[in-house]
Amino acid sequence: MSGFSLGPEQASAGAKGVDTLFLGIVGLSVLIVVVVTGLIVAFAVRYRRGSTANRGEMPAVVSREFEVGWTAGALFLALFIFWFASSSQLQAITPPKNAMEIHVVAKQWMWKLQHPSGAREIDALHVPLGVPVKLIMTSQDTIHDFYVPAFRMKQDVLPGRYTQTWFTATKLGTFPLRCAEYCGTDHSAMGGEIVVMQPEDYARWTTAQPLAAVNLAGQGSQLYAGLGCAACHGAGAAAGIAAPGLKGLYGESVALADGRLVTADEDYLRQAIVSPEKVPVAGYPQSMPSYAKAVDEQGLVALIAYIRVLSAPTARSHAQQTAGAG
Ligand code: CUA
Repeated sequence: MSGFSLGPEQASAGAKGVDTLFLGIVGLSVLIVVVVTGLIVAFAVRYRRGSTANRGEMPAVVSREFEVGWTAGALFLALFIFWFASSSQLQAITPPKNAMEIHVVAKQWMWKLQHPSGAREIDALHVPLGVPVKLIMTSQDTIHDFYVPAFRMKQDVLPGRYTQTWFTATKLGTFPLRCAEYCGTDHSAMGGEIVVMQPEDYARWTTAQPLAAVNLAGQGSQLYAGLGCAACHGAGAAAGIAAPGLKGLYGESVALADGRLVTADEDYLRQAIVSPEKVPVAGYPQSMPSYAKAVDEQGLVALIAYIRVLSAPTARSHAQQTAGAG
């Protein structure tokens, strides 16, 4: 970087749009401030006490057409800003289907990140250049906020649910990661860095990570076995123990006992594990206890990854072999 810059460098595909929106609204605000202040000063001088300026009736054209004109103009301008801002926001919350998924667990005061390969990082995230990356985030304690100024990306990270955001890095290098929600004593120190690498360097980095041997779904499969989930959810569950099957569940609609129809996404699956009594499935007795104490946030992420694998057509047979799940 050289010379003066109004903001951090633009290092993601969405950064330019955010800057255009921000500078556009600032420019417009400055324009309005100048016009209004100018009129206030001009009128104060022109109509000061003792001046001989005409204070009679206004010409009809000023009182009607002019009034209608500027009101309509301001309305369309406001609608345009609304459209511009919301289309930029909608784009920011809708990741492409093929995006690489990174799981983020925030806690006082660090960022724990996990790659699809199972590789884990703390306060650092390595990503490939030019590849859309989707972040699925939750918090172990209080509210945090995942903020990467160079990507113009900021998303609250909440306890008890998943929030998502995404980016495509467009520049190689290291960019600061911050927490943008006051979360306690060391909030200001809660940060890290995003390292953007060439895809082939990223692949090399991934394989060099110690935990890459067992991927996220594999860790989930081990948890599934360890917690004894198959006793009720597996194909070989004892007669009389009725629990919904997990195969093919992810992304499907689920009818709940109270009549609600929900989609089996990350948030639903998380809730079904930590507080199953809140989402009783229609046609089954509500007999599952909460697993909130048995599984931590990273464990939940792994379990959900495993349930997703059970629903992926290509991986189904393999997943069945490894866990005998139904
Ligand atoms: Cu975490 Cu502020």
